[in-house]
Amino acid sequence: MKPKIFIECALDQDIMALAEQYFDCSVGTANLTLQNKYDALQGCVGYAVPMGNITRELLQACPTLQVVSNIAVGYDNFDVQAMAEHHVIGTHTPYVLDDTVADLTVGLMLAVARQITRLDKWIRTEQWQAGVPETLFGIDVYGKKVGIIGMGRIGEKIAKRLKYGFDMSIYYYNRSRKPRIEQAYGAVYQSLNEICATCDFIIVMLPLTEQTKEIIGQVQFACMQEHAIFINTARGGVVDEQALLNALKEQRIQGAGLDVFTTEPLLADHPFTQLDQVVLTPHIGSATLATRNAMQRTAINNLKAILYQQGEAHIVPELQHLVNNER
Ligand code: GLV
Ligand code: GLV
Repeated sequence: MKPKIFIECALDQDIMALAEQYFDCSVGTANLTLQNKYDALQGCVGYAVPMGNITRELLQACPTLQVVSNIAVGYDNFDVQAMAEHHVIGTHTPYVLDDTVADLTVGLMLAVARQITRLDKWIRTEQWQAGVPETLFGIDVYGKKVGIIGMGRIGEKIAKRLKYGFDMSIYYYNRSRKPRIEQAYGAVYQSLNEICATCDFIIVMLPLTEQTKEIIGQVQFACMQEHAIFINTARGGVVDEQALLNALKEQRIQGAGLDVFTTEPLLADHPFTQLDQVVLTPHIGSATLATRNAMQRTAINNLKAILYQQGEAHIVPELQHLVNNER
């Protein structure tokens, strides 16, 4: 008998075929309630989920579960402590999305600095009758100083683009120094506040944890320069959103490009939507067709690696050293 798994979202056809080769699959529909999920998970050993919360309550309600496979790299949706206690392994999808997220990050920098979305709207509302007003001119990206807060795999992909494509000087902050990256990109290690005070573009690329929650707050926005542009394609929770909003409203920074928010979906009446100098995208950093397919494949292969003990699973780092993973 194939192991039984629940896949919470529809997968691409080829990935669904792969999943069915190994597993007895059930697939969720839109708008599942918590109770629907618990019901669907009864008797399942595996659960593929796109960033849904894995809580102590869920683990208690679904005692057969052995592996939760996040279809995402960030796993702040996992209660890793409760998972360890319940001997449930967590996996995620690193590597395959690094370039795609880096591309969007650079896209947001350009969109804010060159006012691309505003200009597009300006043409569509028939305002292009003569010259373009200087208020719609941009500021240069190339050759400027960029600070990358969180120099992990994605941070490095961003550094590579900006150093070699845009001639930017790279500054970074990270829990540990990265000599290899310093050498490869001439990156200079600085404190968080030094970066905020001196860089023209400030990009946050940290996972959301107890330690990084609202790590960019009032103090950091207060030390930024008036022309600074802030970009977040990581997690909304690493920023004190109210402090960011205040900095933008009071024009203490130039603008922001945001793909992630503390509460998602972001509704159309959110104060961010009132600000021209902000470019918003709906948490689509990894969302190209090819990369989402690769993430789904990784997620199914992770389930296979653990439930069949075949191949290598991308186990979430916090769970790596726990006894339940000594397989
Ligand atoms: C998306 O946000 C991810 O963590 O993969
Ligand atoms: C994200 O996973 C990173 O390593 O930057």
